Amino acid sequence: MAWGDIPDWAYDSVHALLQSLHAVEPTTYQHCLRVGEYCKKLSADVGLNEFEQKVAEFSGLLHDIGKIGIEKEVLLKPSKLDPRELDIMRNHSVISEQIIQPLGAHPFFNQILPAVRGHHERLDGEGYPDKLAGEAIPLISRIILVVDTYDAMAENRVYRKGLPDDIIYSEIKRCTGTQFDPQIAKVFLENHARWKPTQDQETLHNIIKKVA
Ligand SMILES: [Fe+2]
Repeated sequence: MAWGDIPDWAYDSVHALLQSLHAVEPTTYQHCLRVGEYCKKLSADVGLNEFEQKVAEFSGLLHDIGKIGIEKEVLLKPSKLDPRELDIMRNHSVISEQIIQPLGAHPFFNQILPAVRGHHERLDGEGYPDKLAGEAIPLISRIILVVDTYDAMAENRVYRKGLPDDIIYSEIKRCTGTQFDPQIAKVFLENHARWKPTQDQETLHNIIKKVA
C-alpha cells in the first residue's frame, strides 16, 4: 500500500455516513467508533505507516455501515439466527462495500472497499463473503477481524454482560491460525493491555471530529 493523500471531504463523508448509522442503529454506531479507534492502534502496533493507519481507522469506522440495510428483527435478535437469517446478516459486509462504492473513485476510499468487504473472512477460508484464505485476505480486514471480535465479546449486550479481557484473550489465542492471522493476533495480545482504557460514550461521539 502506497502513501497517498486523504481528501478534505473524506472526513465529512464518513461523518455523514456514521450519522445515518447512528439514526438507525446507535449500538452499531458506537461499536464502529470503537473498532475505528482500535484499528488505528493495532495498525500502528503492527507497524503500518501513518497513511495506512488512516485507511485502517476509516475502514474500522465504516466496516459495519451495511447493517443499515439489515432488517431489525434479524439485527437485534437476541437468540441464535436461523440459516435464512444468518444469510441476511452475513450480507452486511457486502452492503457496507456497496454504500462506500460511490467514494471509491478516490484512491483512499478505493483501499477501504476491499478491507470492509473482507472483514469477516477467516484465515482458514471458512469466512464470508468470498471465502478468501491466508494472505488473499486484505491485511486491514485481518486487523479489523481481531479488534471487531474483541469488541463484540467485551461489549455488554441486553442478554449478557461483556466478558473480561483474560477470557477474550484466551479465545483469540484459541482461534489463532484458523480465524485470526497469527502475527496480527500476537501483536494484539502483546499490546492491547497497554492501550488507553476505552473512552466513555460522550468522548466516542466526538471521535469523528477528532479524526478531522
Ligand atoms: Fe461485521
